[in-house]
Amino acid sequence: MFIMLIWGLVVAVWAGRSLAVGCPQPPAPLSFPLADTQVNPRVPGSLMRGIPVRIGTPPQNLVMLPWPDLNNTYIYDDQTACNTKLIDNDEICRVRRGGYYYETESTSFTKTTDVIDAGGAPVEIDTLGSESGIPKLVSSSLAGTDRFAAGDKEPVTIPVGIPRLQWDGGFTISHALGLGPNSTYLNALVAARQIPSRVWSIFWGRMWMGSADMDGAIVLGGYDKEKVIGENFTAQLDYSENMGCWTGMRVIIVDVIANFPHGADVSIMSGNLPVRSCIVPQRQLLWEVPVDIATELRKKAGLVSSSPSMSITAFHALATMLNTTASDSVFDGDLTFVLSSGLRIRVPNNQFIVPRIGYAEDGSRVVDQSQKDLLVYSVTNQQPSTLGRYFLTAAYLMINHEAGTFTMWQGNPSRKSTLVPVSQTSEQCSPESSGDGLGTTDNHTTDDGESGGSSGNNGGQNEPESDPTTETSVSIGTIVGAAVGGAAGLACIVALVMFCLWKRRRQRGPETGGFLPDDGPVAYIDNTGPKEIGSLPPMATELVAEDLRPELNGDFRGYELHGSGPYGGVLNRGGY
Ligand SMILES: *[C@@H]1O[C@H](CO)[C@@H](O)[C@H](O)[C@H]1NC(C)=O
Ligand SMILES: *[C@@H]1O[C@H](CO)[C@@H](O)[C@H](O)[C@H]1NC(C)=O
Ligand SMILES: *[C@@H]1O[C@H](CO)[C@@H](O)[C@H](O)[C@H]1NC(C)=O
Ligand SMILES: *[C@@H]1O[C@H](CO)[C@@H](O)[C@H](O)[C@H]1NC(C)=O
Ligand SMILES: *[C@@H]1O[C@H](CO)[C@@H](O)[C@H](O)[C@H]1NC(C)=O
Repeated sequence: MFIMLIWGLVVAVWAGRSLAVGCPQPPAPLSFPLADTQVNPRVPGSLMRGIPVRIGTPPQNLVMLPWPDLNNTYIYDDQTACNTKLIDNDEICRVRRGGYYYETESTSFTKTTDVIDAGGAPVEIDTLGSESGIPKLVSSSLAGTDRFAAGDKEPVTIPVGIPRLQWDGGFTISHALGLGPNSTYLNALVAARQIPSRVWSIFWGRMWMGSADMDGAIVLGGYDKEKVIGENFTAQLDYSENMGCWTGMRVIIVDVIANFPHGADVSIMSGNLPVRSCIVPQRQLLWEVPVDIATELRKKAGLVSSSPSMSITAFHALATMLNTTASDSVFDGDLTFVLSSGLRIRVPNNQFIVPRIGYAEDGSRVVDQSQKDLLVYSVTNQQPSTLGRYFLTAAYLMINHEAGTFTMWQGNPSRKSTLVPVSQTSEQCSPESSGDGLGTTDNHTTDDGESGGSSGNNGGQNEPESDPTTETSVSIGTIVGAAVGGAAGLACIVALVMFCLWKRRRQRGPETGGFLPDDGPVAYIDNTGPKEIGSLPPMATELVAEDLRPELNGDFRGYELHGSGPYGGVLNRGGY
């Protein structure tokens, strides 16, 4: 009798299991810290912020940044030097890259002909504004496969590209964890049933506040609902050239408000068109923005740039260096970004006016509290505007490659974590067992009602293709613009060229080579990489040649554009 009962139970359990075979329990999301991590075991201060990972056998520790616009993962060994104009020495290079990978010391590294042969994604993005070396990465990198794990999770074997060229701008040079639409890492985790879907989320954390600093976090397969506030904004990922956003995440900023501590809220975009910005989490600043808005921001906030006004060697390269003695006090209010969707993101003052960060010879981080940098870089109207990592100190971002959407919330800087899985839209299982049922798979998850499975279906919130406000303003602008267009356009090009020029570092002697793929003269450098004079528009090249050539030997870092409307400006030296 007793044995019969046991048998009955066994059969019942077996039957229950086999019924569920068509639809196994989906795995829970994974979460990794985005933290300041010591890179060189011998130098305590050799810190880089990123995701601590392990690669190879025996495991080697590295620190990586997530890249939404790369499909493959690219990890440096010690063979491709840093740009010596931007990075002082090899120790600093090693720290800023997040350590070196020694593939020859890994018994699990299997070399292949190239990245594609390793099973890597065949295509990387080629959109204007992205780092100019990206399209060459697939064909030029040393490649293979190796065991790889973020945090302390179970390793998966993934294709790895080991760059053999300086493919980036030289500023965001950490190892790149490719989390693009055909991400080999996300694909491998889904295949290994470590995560439920090709969805990932990011909160950058808070930095430069000493003991009040807070780690950020990356969630794979869902998001962290403790770190979001209120309604979300969801739009399609759109990588197309005419969107002008290589991460697929373009937003329209209709206003930015300086929130003075004593209550006054002042728009810094008065009279300006909305700004289309691309969200690029790996970029080192808060905002790359058209020069007239950057100027208005400084003017209204009472910020004075120092002379020279920016550095390309500081950790926050291209940030505006402030002259803290030129005014009684430095602006201590916040900045609120108002998006066309109505979402408002208030970035706290200490996440965009920060101490100057550098590196000592041994690669340890140096925080100079006596100097302040404004994490805003002025671009010309032709260059794309970006919202960088410091935007994600105040906003929470989720990228859903299953649904082809991205979702943003106001961030909540909480140390707590409640992971919510987001399911694949094309679930193989029966409807009863998919969707919100996922919520029960993770003991971190509490409220099923907020499970994000439906995020792919809310097309109603998608950003309109073209903003009506913009179109109206443009047509008014065209009338005015026609009158002054010619002269202003010319002035603009001259100004743009001069603004963007800067001399190689003063301390350095003659160039030691290896800076540009094809040893051309460097006109200027920005986040996409160095630009040659020959790559400028023909008219600009002429102007450089005839009018600016002598100045090429001068120091251009102190030049600033003084905006007088979106299409004009005069050039002056120093602060305004
Ligand atoms: C990623 O791979 C897809 C598919 O090959 C390709 O269309 C895309 O351009 C690649 N990169 C990005 C950022 O989308
Ligand atoms: C995505 O990458 C895989 C290799 O990882 C490749 O086989 C596949 O063709 C890629 N998908 C697309 C759409 O290009
Ligand atoms: C800062 O401003 C003061 C006062 O205007 C000026 O004397 C000084 O040269 C400036 N310093 C820098 C580094 O720009
Ligand atoms: C789930 O709960 C168990 C027991 O309460 C706990 O030990 C474990 O850490 C939890 N899982 C996670 C991912 O935190
Ligand atoms: C975003 O908001 C929409 C509309 O309120 C909601 O249906 C959807 O579930 C939300 N998405 C997430 C991931 O929370």
